[in-house]
Amino acid sequence: MQRDSIANTIGVALCLCIVCSVVVSTAAVVLRPAQERNKVMERKRNILQAAGLYTPDKPLEELFKQVETRIVDLRTGEFVEPSVVNPETFNQRAAARDLATSQRLPSGEDAAGIGRRENYSFVYLIRREGRLAQIVLPIYGKGLWSTLYGFLALDADLDTVDGLTFYEHAETPGLGGEVDNPDWKQQWVGKQIFDDEGMIRIQVLRGKVNEEQPEAIHQIDGLAGATITSRGVSNLVQFWLGEGGFAKLLENLRKQSSS
Ligand SMILES: Cc1cc2nc3c(=O)[nH]c(=O)nc-3n(C[C@H](O)[C@H](O)[C@H](O)COP(=O)(O)O)c2cc1C
Repeated sequence: MQRDSIANTIGVALCLCIVCSVVVSTAAVVLRPAQERNKVMERKRNILQAAGLYTPDKPLEELFKQVETRIVDLRTGEFVEPSVVNPETFNQRAAARDLATSQRLPSGEDAAGIGRRENYSFVYLIRREGRLAQIVLPIYGKGLWSTLYGFLALDADLDTVDGLTFYEHAETPGLGGEVDNPDWKQQWVGKQIFDDEGMIRIQVLRGKVNEEQPEAIHQIDGLAGATITSRGVSNLVQFWLGEGGFAKLLENLRKQSSS
């Protein structure tokens, strides 16, 4: 066969395609466990960051020992034992998609724009001297281009925000992507969720917070040029703190701490 014949060219191209696809698929399979491990580590780092407990100079696993991972039944606000739902194997995203382990949210009750809400959720508790010191809640919901996944940490009073982080989203860098800006995230620290009547008041504004106003304690500056992402974050935080989210758990924890 001539070296520059059509058959030879096609043959070489085919061989090259097969070799490349084998290399790419082998790499994908071999690297998957490492990618999964990295995702878990990234989530743990974000949980610690939300709670203000992350320092890069200590091993992550060491820092994470102070965090107790629990599963809560969102329908009752009660913790469930590992024999019911095992935190080692529980896949919350899969549970949210599965018709058997989630419930459809009517549009009027779906501020986070998630369609369905899983029956069980992870929560992360930090205790000091045997008492609950902080709780970290996984939160997620629609922004402009993507679903934002993150964590909201509350102080022992279950009202004061200790921090907010997002570990996954696809909002535009410099616009909605500014949810990752440390200065913006810092604004959340010390804000209060509820007013004196127990209504959820935490809110991302359109524009700047007027610190002179008493409502400022519940308000965060909107992201410039990213009104839709800002509104999305506001809505998803309110949703997860409300009846569709962790309200029953927070109520139970309040009762426990006052008894
Ligand atoms: C390329 C491009 C990317 C954008 N990315 C975002 C985004 O991530 N989040 C967002 O809320 N708005 C984003 N916007 C702007 C929205 O389309 C919309 O105009 C904006 O949310 C309105 O906010 P404003 O009133 O603060 O300008 C983007 C616009 C363009 C053209």
